[in-house]
Amino acid sequence: MRLFIDTANVNEIKQAYELGVISGITTNPSLVAKEGRDFFETLKEIITVVGNIPISAEVVSLEAQEMVEQGKKLAALGEGIVIKVPMTADGLKATKIFTSMGIKTNVTLIFSSTQALLAARAGATYVSPFIGRLDDINQVGMNLIQEISQIFQVHEIKSQIISASVRHSAHVIEAALLGADIATVPFKVIESMMKHPLTDAGIEKFTSDWANANQKTF
Ligand code: E4P
Repeated sequence: MRLFIDTANVNEIKQAYELGVISGITTNPSLVAKEGRDFFETLKEIITVVGNIPISAEVVSLEAQEMVEQGKKLAALGEGIVIKVPMTADGLKATKIFTSMGIKTNVTLIFSSTQALLAARAGATYVSPFIGRLDDINQVGMNLIQEISQIFQVHEIKSQIISASVRHSAHVIEAALLGADIATVPFKVIESMMKHPLTDAGIEKFTSDWANANQKTF
């Protein structure tokens, strides 16, 4: 399973990219609004940092033809841009059109397997089931990853599953075990994935033992 970072914060993207662990970026209108910056300028800056890896940029129209117009402007920014469209009838129509134009898509706000199947059949490059938001309403978000994963495997569907709305590192592991292709994770989750108290304790012990050993090697 690959990792994408779920943020529109260029500084977080830089830090995660330097770690060498992310192979894509997802944004959404809320994440862009949080940064208080121009959307297109933000995307251009992200591209200068990461180059042509997949960067999901979401259209905000709710009407298919207008989604296509917005998506074309976004796609013109760079080869890595993936157009994120909402899981609606208009979103499906737009996905079909983007697919025929060779523009990659990420169908977002997926909360059921039927939605994922429809998005895949419309040609979505990626489908994004939102795990955390299902957990928030007392449904088991991971069951959705398992179902979609099984359906796509049995029917040899090529759309890739992005486990989205990831809230903690256990979500990442479960998504990986259940066959998600990608998990898109906030920067703070990447940070928490790195940490283990035994790693910290081990480093402390190695450092103090080395200091007491009077070695001159370095
Ligand atoms: C995914 O593409 C979305 O941007 C994101 O994962 C939504 O997560 P949230 O439910 O934490 O807002």
